[in-house]
Amino acid sequence: MPAMAAHSLADLSLAVRLGTSDSSLSSCRTLGGYGFRPLPLMVNRERRACSYSHGGVKVAAASEVAVKEKPKNNNKKGAKEGIKESLLTPRFYTTDFDEMETLFNTEINKNLDQSEFQALLAEFKTDYNQTHFVRNPEFKEAADKMQGPLRKIFVEFLERSCTAEFSGFLLYKELGRRLKKTNPVVAEIFSLMSRDEARHAGFLNKGLSDFNLALDLGFLTKARKYTFFKPKFIFYATYLSEKIGYWRYITIYRHLRENPEYQVYPIFKYFENWCQDENRHGDFFSALMKAQPQFLNDWKAKLWSRFFCLSVYVTMYLNDCQRTAFYEGIGLNTKEFDMHVIIETNRTTARIFPAVLDVENPEFKKKLDRMVDINRQIIAIGESQAPGFVKNLQRIPFIAALVSELIAAYLMPPVDSGSLDYADFEPQVVY
Ligand SMILES: [Fe+2]
Ligand SMILES: [Fe+2]
Repeated sequence: MPAMAAHSLADLSLAVRLGTSDSSLSSCRTLGGYGFRPLPLMVNRERRACSYSHGGVKVAAASEVAVKEKPKNNNKKGAKEGIKESLLTPRFYTTDFDEMETLFNTEINKNLDQSEFQALLAEFKTDYNQTHFVRNPEFKEAADKMQGPLRKIFVEFLERSCTAEFSGFLLYKELGRRLKKTNPVVAEIFSLMSRDEARHAGFLNKGLSDFNLALDLGFLTKARKYTFFKPKFIFYATYLSEKIGYWRYITIYRHLRENPEYQVYPIFKYFENWCQDENRHGDFFSALMKAQPQFLNDWKAKLWSRFFCLSVYVTMYLNDCQRTAFYEGIGLNTKEFDMHVIIETNRTTARIFPAVLDVENPEFKKKLDRMVDINRQIIAIGESQAPGFVKNLQRIPFIAALVSELIAAYLMPPVDSGSLDYADFEPQVVY
């Protein structure tokens, strides 16, 4: 999924638990898109990953996570700048690979319709973007022109996006490896998706080099915690992550095509084809869920679908509202942009999830805006000079208010949706 940060309520819960000043829901691309941090109610295991080398991304062992400042004059002793955890919050994910193998074992699951996977594999093999990610001198020139706060926020954007793409690469790579024996077709698609994500992460990391920085992906691989999600939750989260990423990229691309004066850095010109990768990734997860209808056809699936939608939308909205300088820097109104992305993602998601949120009800946006205000106050408390225990006490009423808004948003009458058969289903409000 798409570069840019990913988000979830879990970010919120973590920030609250830590009592951090940056209760900022940091960007956290999910498995390839908008990501999820550990949810308190889910099993959260810490795992370590192996090293990989793939596409433009070389991953090797390293001892600490950092953004390295690239040395001038090829001096290899570049300064290593620690990066704030909040900047790299995109989590890395792992899952129950044995359960995944069972789900896609054609011997056990004889009704598994392989024809759709075959068709998707053919599309992935075509590799439409094989020659798309080619840089030119415009990148460095644009980066050199960018100064002051915009430069800083751009670097943050590149770091977060790169980490997010890279988390998708790691998960898909491992799934491709683990499913090879039981379902070679599904396994190969995962491997080809990891190819795409490696390409995206590599391209973003090259972008950082324009700012004389480089993200230490080896460190990330070794040192970050891996969040465990059961396969069912991986499907919900990753599907949303890929689709919301698609809508973010295409919206930015179209906006900048109409308003070229805001084209401050050429990476956005690549978003049109790039987002098609994310769209295809999302379609693959859609096919995976259709192959496992038990994850879509009962009341629990409806509750979880709404939960994941809310997590992703709220986290993105709160996150982006803390980074309005970036969106304004490219001529966007942050809240309008986010609402457009949320509505379009929700419409797309309604084709597969059995229930979605009624995000087009004006009350939903009002709730989001109230959450932004509350979150701002929580952040202000964190940044104050008061002692820690005083800050914690001061936060309590705001956290309670935030939780109450979240519950109210979750309990809004949902849109009954989803169809395993009708892709053009139009959601209807159910009261
Ligand atoms: Fe991607
Ligand atoms: Fe993706």
